[in-house]
Amino acid sequence: MTDSSNMSKLLEITYQIEDIDAVAQQILEHVSSKTLLFYGDMGVGKTTLIKAIVKALGSNDEVSSPTFSIVNEYVTKDNAIYHFDLYRINDEEDALNFGFEDYLYTSNWVLIEWPENAKNLLPEDVNCIEIYHKNETSRSLKLSQNTTLTQKNAMEQYKI
Ligand SMILES: Nc1ncnc2c1ncn2[C@@H]1O[C@H](COP(=O)(O)OP(=O)(O)OP(=O)(O)O)[C@@H](O)[C@H]1O
Ligand SMILES: [Mg+2]
Repeated sequence: MTDSSNMSKLLEITYQIEDIDAVAQQILEHVSSKTLLFYGDMGVGKTTLIKAIVKALGSNDEVSSPTFSIVNEYVTKDNAIYHFDLYRINDEEDALNFGFEDYLYTSNWVLIEWPENAKNLLPEDVNCIEIYHKNETSRSLKLSQNTTLTQKNAMEQYKI
């Protein structure tokens, strides 16, 4: 998990699978970064939510779990979306070897499952989505932004 002291909450929702398209829409209305990190236990619903977000971004591409390929690319009218599943990488060197860093710091959407497996390679300007299992059919999610950047900017302004 990213250092929680640097995170501030943008949105918190409890939802069922039927609500997923509305949840995706709400997330897109609240995000402050195009790099989204998805945290949560195995099978909690990360890929399911990413599917809905990709659809809400206007892509008709088929979303599947990139567990074996590590990254899938989808396209919208004016953007690319990179969907990572880092569950199977062994270490950060693995991520560097397949060029993980080349996908970051662009103007594209980057959606990452199991980001904790590359935590030292992640950019600062990200939003995090933590998903929790509430019961058989309900999930809760918390969307937060990393405030390190904002704080840094404020510090720099203060110096001037
Ligand atoms: N409210 C809900 N939101 C999301 N998924 C739900 C919900 N209720 C039930 N489910 C079910 O939970 C499962 C979530 O699977 P999914 O592949 O999205 O998990 P994941 O977090 O990506 O797992 P992994 O860590 O293996 O990648 C699906 O079978 C989905 O139908
Ligand atoms: Mg998944």
